[in-house]
Amino acid sequence: MDVRLALIGFGNVGKGVASLLHGEGERYRTEYGVRLVLTGVADQGGAAVNLEGLDGFNLLEAKKRHGTVAAARDGVQGLQGAHFLERAAAHVLLEAASTNFEDAEPGWTYVREALALKMDVVLASKGVLVLHYGHLMRIAMDRGARVLFSGTVGAPLPVLELADRVLVGAQISGFEGILNATSNYILSLMADGATYEESVRRAQELGIAETDPTLDVDGWDAAAKAAIVANAVMGAQLSLQDVEREGIRHVTPEMLSHARQEGQTLKLIARARRTAGGVSAQVVAERRPLADVLGRLQGAEMGIVYHTDPLGTVSATVQQVGGIPTALTVLRDVINLARDRGWSSPSQA
Ligand SMILES: NC(=O)c1ccc[n+]([C@@H]2O[C@H](COP(=O)([O-])OP(=O)(O)OC[C@H]3O[C@@H](n4cnc5c(N)ncnc54)[C@H](OP(=O)(O)O)[C@@H]3O)[C@@H](O)[C@H]2O)c1
Repeated sequence: MDVRLALIGFGNVGKGVASLLHGEGERYRTEYGVRLVLTGVADQGGAAVNLEGLDGFNLLEAKKRHGTVAAARDGVQGLQGAHFLERAAAHVLLEAASTNFEDAEPGWTYVREALALKMDVVLASKGVLVLHYGHLMRIAMDRGARVLFSGTVGAPLPVLELADRVLVGAQISGFEGILNATSNYILSLMADGATYEESVRRAQELGIAETDPTLDVDGWDAAAKAAIVANAVMGAQLSLQDVEREGIRHVTPEMLSHARQEGQTLKLIARARRTAGGVSAQVVAERRPLADVLGRLQGAEMGIVYHTDPLGTVSATVQQVGGIPTALTVLRDVINLARDRGWSSPSQA
C-alpha cells in the first residue's frame, strides 16, 4: 500500500530521507511491498505538500538554490504546524528538525499534533524523548499510535532493535556503549598523540564535530542516549538530569599514553544498570582494555553491549555515522512499522 509521510526538517537527515526516497523508493517498493510517498516537507521557511507525492530531486534543488522547500514545486511560504500536518494527510510524521533539551521544540508541538491526528511518529531528534518520554508514550497509547526512534541512539547502530527483537525473552540487567561518535573520534586522535584542541579542530574540519562541540565533549549527547535507551529498553523513567555525567575535556594525551602502556585506553562510556532502587545511568570517561569490544572501537565507530540473563553479553558495533545512515535508519523504522501494521504486501515483503 501507499504509506504517506510528512517530514519536518530538511537538513542533513531530512535531505537524506528525500534523497533515499528519490533514488531507492522503487527498490523499497519491490523488496518490502510498501510504497513510501512523501506528501509533505516543512522547514523554517514553509512547506511543500502534494498528496500524489513530492519530487525529492525538485525539493533538494529548491533547498539548495533558495534555502527553503517552500520554493519547490507545490511549495507554500510560511506553511507550518497543524495546518501543514492536516494538508499532508500522512500516515507517519518523520521528525528531523533541530532540537534542544530545554523545551524540545519544534518537535514536541509537531509530535502532539500528529498524535492528535492519529499519525504514527518516527523521531530522529532526541529532545522530545529526553524531556517528555512518559507523557509521549501515554498519548501514543491513548491514540493507538506507534512511536519509533531508532535513529536517535547512535544510528545506524541497532541499539533498540537488538533489545526489541533479538533479546526477546532474555532479561536485560544493563548495557554499556560508545554512543557518541564525535567524542570517540577525538579520543582516538588523542591516543595517537594529538592534543585535545587539535583533535577537536580536525573533527570539526571533517564535519564530525559541531562548531560548538559542547553537547558531544561534555557528555550531554551520550547522557541523552543513555536515558533514552534505559527508558525504552529497561522500563526506566530517567530524565537527562538523572544521568550522572562527565565528558572528555579533562582527558590528556598523557593519560591515554599511560593507559596504552598497560594495554588499555580511555573511552566515553554510556551505561545503565538495574539496581535495588531502580535503574541508574552514567556517562564516564573510563579505562577499557584495548582488546575489549568497546575499547577497540576507533575513530567514529560506535558500539553497544547488553548484559543479559541467560544470553550473557550481546553486542553490536558500527563504523558508519552521519546524515545518510541516520536517514536510512528513519526509513528502516518506517518500513518496520509498515510491516508491523500489515501495510506491506505479503507477496512482495
Ligand atoms: N545528522 C545526524 O547524523 C543526526 C543523527 C542523529 C540524530 N540527529 C538529529 O536529527 C535532527 C536533524 O538533524 P540534522 O543534522 O538534519 O540537522 P540540521 O541539518 O541542522 O537541520 C535541521 C532542520 O530543522 C529545520 N527546522 C528548525 N526549526 C524548524 C521549524 N520550526 N519547523 C520546521 N523545520 C525546522 C531546519 O530548517 P531550515 O533548513 O529552514 O533552517 C533544518 O532544515 C536533529 O535533532 C539531530 O540532533 C541527527
